[in-house]
Amino acid sequence: MRLTGKTAIITGGANGIGLAACQRFAEEGANVVMADFDELAGKQSEADFARKGLKATFIQVDVAERNSVKQLVDQTLERYGRIDILINNAGITKDATLVKMDPLDFQRVLDVNLTGVFNCTQAVVPHMLANGYGKIINTSSVSGIYGNFGQTNYAAAKAAIVGMTKTWAKEFGRKGIHVNAVAPGFTATAMVDKMPEKVLDQMKNSTSLQRLGQPRDIANVYLFLASEESDYVHGHVLHVDGGIMM
Ligand code: NAI
Repeated sequence: MRLTGKTAIITGGANGIGLAACQRFAEEGANVVMADFDELAGKQSEADFARKGLKATFIQVDVAERNSVKQLVDQTLERYGRIDILINNAGITKDATLVKMDPLDFQRVLDVNLTGVFNCTQAVVPHMLANGYGKIINTSSVSGIYGNFGQTNYAAAKAAIVGMTKTWAKEFGRKGIHVNAVAPGFTATAMVDKMPEKVLDQMKNSTSLQRLGQPRDIANVYLFLASEESDYVHGHVLHVDGGIMM
C-alpha cells in the first residue's frame, strides 16, 4: 500500500484516465475524491468501486468555476481533514483548425484545461502549505509539447501547463510541495474515441510501441509521482506516450 492515509483529489475522476487513477489510488490505500462535472458517471463509478470493496467519494465540480472548486476543497477537508495529493487531470477538447475555430471554443478549452488547473491548485495549496507537504500532478499532453493539427486551443492550454508546473516547482519546492506534470500520448478514452479510425491508425503508427496508451498506463505514472518513490522528482514533465514521433 503506497498511499495509506493520504487524501487525493483527482479531477476528471469519473471517466477515462482519471477513473483509472481513482482505482489505482484506492487500491493503494488512499482516500480518493473523484472530482468531476459528470454526476451520472461519478455516482455510477462510486457505486462500482463500493461493489469491488474500494472506496472513493464522488464530489461534483466544475473546475472552471472558482466557487465550485472552493466547495470541492471544503467538502474534502470536512470529510478527510487534509489534502495530500492533487491530480489536475480534468480536460476537454473542442478541435478545429485555426481558421474554423469558434472563439468561444478557444476560450472554453482554456477555461477548463488551464484556468481549471490554476483554480484547483490555488484552492488546495494553502492547505498543503499548512501541512508542509503535498504532491501536485498536472496533466499536459503530447499536443502541448509538439503541437497537433486542429488543436490550437488544446495545445495552447497543455503547453501553458508545462510553464505553470515549472513555476510552481520553484515556488513550492522548499515548502515540501512536489510539483510535476505528465504528458500522455494518445490514450484509449472517450477523448480519442471521437477521432476517425484513419486518424487513430496514424496515431498508432507514429508511436514506437504501435499501440494507444491504456488509461492504466497513465494512472500508474500518476501513482508513481504521488508516492514517496518519486520524492526527488520535481518540476519534471514525464512523457508517457509509447515513444511517439509526431
Ligand atoms: P475523458 O474525456 O475520458 O475524461 C475527462 C474527464 O474530465 C471527464 O470525466 C469529464 O467529465 C471531466 N471534465 C470535463 N470538464 C470538466 C470540468 N469543467 N470540471 C470537472 N471535470 C470535467 O478524457 P481522458 O482521455 O481521460 O483525459 C484525461 C486528461 O488527460 C485530460 O486532461 C486530457 O487532456 C489528458 N490527455 C488525454 C489524452 C488522450 O489521448 N486521451 C492525451 C493527452 C492528454
